[in-house]
Amino acid sequence: MGDVGKRAAGQAAAELVEDGMRLGLGTGSTVAFFLDALVARGCDVAGVPTSEATAQRCRELGIELLDVATVDHLDLCVDGADELDDELSLVKGGGGALLREKVVASLAERFVVVATADKLVARLADSFPLPIEVVPFAVGPVTRTLESMGAEPQLRGGGDYLTDNGNAVIDARFPGGLDDPTVSDVRLAMVPGVVTSGLFIDLADTALLGDEQGSVEYLSAAR
Ligand code: A5P
Repeated sequence: MGDVGKRAAGQAAAELVEDGMRLGLGTGSTVAFFLDALVARGCDVAGVPTSEATAQRCRELGIELLDVATVDHLDLCVDGADELDDELSLVKGGGGALLREKVVASLAERFVVVATADKLVARLADSFPLPIEVVPFAVGPVTRTLESMGAEPQLRGGGDYLTDNGNAVIDARFPGGLDDPTVSDVRLAMVPGVVTSGLFIDLADTALLGDEQGSVEYLSAAR
């Protein structure tokens, strides 16, 4: 889906922002529309960026940046997603920023996802492979563990790709999708060498899904 839906979702998220808020600033092309809309609305805010790319964009736009080391609470985090289901479990990390995105989302009182409507799926990690951030030393063993879990792992960039944290990413497709994303999240977190997976469980409160007509659907988590 193209830019119309992304822009609509980004603009809808900007309308949730009030002056003085401390924000979590996600990563990706949909968040880029959110940042533009923040500036267009003249919002007086500051935020923690989830990637070097977002930090750079904020500097260009004049959005004040906060150091995560000095922040223990954010009012609102706005970030994209690669897939989501109707419980607002997410697959993230297509842009490689999953670890910082998860840390920042965990600090936020409210986490709003901005995405296009086609990212809503019945089962996660079937069509979009699940990104998993892995310490480089452990890529081999983690790959074999993923295979034993029924996944089809692919080392991003053949090993040349590194995250902002200096780690590798394994993109793991689970044919047929994940039966229970919560169980998978726990299992993956226990694999030695895995830093984090792109599964975001019980973090998102709301999803704003833009479509090609420029409409935005609001989904809320059931909890
Ligand atoms: C970054 O690591 C990802 O989690 C992004 O949030 C995700 O890839 C969404 O990006 P787009 O908004 O560009 O689709």
